[in-house]
Amino acid sequence: MNQPYVPHIAAPDAVRNLRALEWVAEIAELTKPDRIVWCDGSQAEYDRLTGEMVASGTLRRLNPEKRPNSFLAWSDPTDVARMEDRTFICTQRKEDAGPTNNWTDPAEMRVTLAKLFDGCMRGRTMYVVPFSMGPLGSHIAQIGIEITDSPYVVVSMHMMTRVSPRVWELLGAEGRFVPCIHSVGAPLAPGQKDVPWPCNKEHKYIVHFPETREIWSFGSGYGGNALLGKKCLALRIASYMGRDEGWFAEHMLILGVTSPAGEKTYVTAAFPSACGKTNFAMLVPPPAFAGWKVTTIGEDIAWIKPGKDGRLHAINPEAGLFGVAPGTSMKTNPNCMLAIRENTIFTNVALTDDGDVWWEGMTDEKPAHLTDWQGNSWTPDSGRLAAHPNSRFTCSARQVPSIDPDWENPNGVPISAFIFGGRRSNTVPLVVEAFSWTDGVYMAATMGSETTAAATGKVGVVRRDPFAMIPFCGYNMADYFGHWLKLGWSVPRRPHVFQVNWFRTDANGKFIWPGFGENMRVLKWIVDRCRGRASAVETPLGWVPDYADIEWTGLEKFGPEQFRAVTSIKHDEWEAELASHDELFERLKDRLPRQLQLRRQMLHLDLGA
Ligand code: GTP
Ligand code: SPV
Ligand code: MN
Repeated sequence: MNQPYVPHIAAPDAVRNLRALEWVAEIAELTKPDRIVWCDGSQAEYDRLTGEMVASGTLRRLNPEKRPNSFLAWSDPTDVARMEDRTFICTQRKEDAGPTNNWTDPAEMRVTLAKLFDGCMRGRTMYVVPFSMGPLGSHIAQIGIEITDSPYVVVSMHMMTRVSPRVWELLGAEGRFVPCIHSVGAPLAPGQKDVPWPCNKEHKYIVHFPETREIWSFGSGYGGNALLGKKCLALRIASYMGRDEGWFAEHMLILGVTSPAGEKTYVTAAFPSACGKTNFAMLVPPPAFAGWKVTTIGEDIAWIKPGKDGRLHAINPEAGLFGVAPGTSMKTNPNCMLAIRENTIFTNVALTDDGDVWWEGMTDEKPAHLTDWQGNSWTPDSGRLAAHPNSRFTCSARQVPSIDPDWENPNGVPISAFIFGGRRSNTVPLVVEAFSWTDGVYMAATMGSETTAAATGKVGVVRRDPFAMIPFCGYNMADYFGHWLKLGWSVPRRPHVFQVNWFRTDANGKFIWPGFGENMRVLKWIVDRCRGRASAVETPLGWVPDYADIEWTGLEKFGPEQFRAVTSIKHDEWEAELASHDELFERLKDRLPRQLQLRRQMLHLDLGA
């Protein structure tokens, strides 16, 4: 007879939370790891785990002279991005997850998970990672505990969240936390040699039970699939909490703009994955904007709550960046390049011959020789990308030179504008201000974007991505629109709403708008509109700037004709666009707020006029 497996969880004395102790024991019994390690988020722990991963081949230490205290990981080539078709929202009733989410009956899913997780950590170490999303102990923070069998996940969580033994203190005996269970799904038989990037090639599941606030993730070690504080907790579970409790959890960057007069305005912007949030959050204004400054609060997620002053206030629940590498350079995003100079983990970028990293777009000239993200020798004429298109870097937000002094203020910063933008080669103009809150919600709800490499699937097709939240909303999207309408109208000093598009292309497929730092020109107009001092022209879509309403000093070569090319509103394009809005609304019709349907009809009539 086999001995029954009795886990010895050997919890540190500081852990007094009964539910946590019980839960860790339960999961250990189910997953059957060889040993359990309680993590404390310390530098010593980081150094020990990175050292172990260098020894095991998961990480490579980069040249300390070029990239101090930094590492490179190459994932399994089948585990390179979030998997939306393997992401599940398991509410009791299917309608509560809504038509845009993958739903499975929770009871049925629990049976599937029990089988998958049974013995899945054999031969491995189970790490227990206590973390806080939002500053430790702040009224706005949420506590999670991630159980994982991936040391890569542990060290990434060190940077992306606040991992600390103080979490146990805060939890006390009865405090609530979000249980997050993660396994790469690759148990080791006795004596079996491990691989550098274990994952499960057959089964991947990223599962949420919003009603019981639980997360279970199996089979992948990459990004949002595995760092469960990020998309799973801070967006999918938090959006559900926010609906019940009267706040928003959003896929948004938060930035501050300081004018030469010292006036500070905060805005958020929701762009889909790999559409420029990190770049916009760290924008460096062009030389003509002397005295203007942009500071960074967050670059991926915002939690937004009504404040006592009648305004909406936003915090960044994260503590680090997990940013897209390709396209990041000293020209496009110097703040980011400076942030990742040291203490950074790179994943799926290329390795230079002198032990540094490289990716497409980092330098104008390609290195003569590299080792690509799959470990193969690479030269510029090899006809392959050296870095994976969704290769990324992970570092602490503290390292960002433009970080705002208030980035950890538990009360958040007051928001003046919500900006929504997708990647659209046509149809959507450079910038439009919504006529009203309801109109703004319509704009955000009908946002579309050409898909990128941030998720697996086809790249470059337009899909509707309401609020850039299609992969991240933990409940019915139509209810989410209703929540935005209701909460927004309940706030006395609600932000203005804008739509932007940096991505219109010309006949040769080249971007017309220079983008990056030059986006400051649009941002200034937005800030000025919020402060009631910029003029605008009325169109059926909303208020838009005239050529003369934008500051052009230093970019005179971008004349009125090019301006027209990025701002024109073409009726045939909008007819097709509205038909596509209809398709989305048709899917959501059971719970779609009526205002949105009415706004759709008005647009059709006004654009046809
Ligand atoms: P996630 O982390 O996936 O949520 O995405 P993100 O929105 O933070 O993506 P990120 O800022 O890293 O986007 C990177 C991609 O957007 C790169 O391909 C950039 O070159 C491109 N990009 C960013 N800003 C601009 C811009 O102003 N114009 C153009 N044309 N491309 C831009
Ligand atoms: C995104 O895809 O929007 C990301 C990266 O921010 S991941 O954390 O992998 O989801
Ligand atoms: Mn994101």
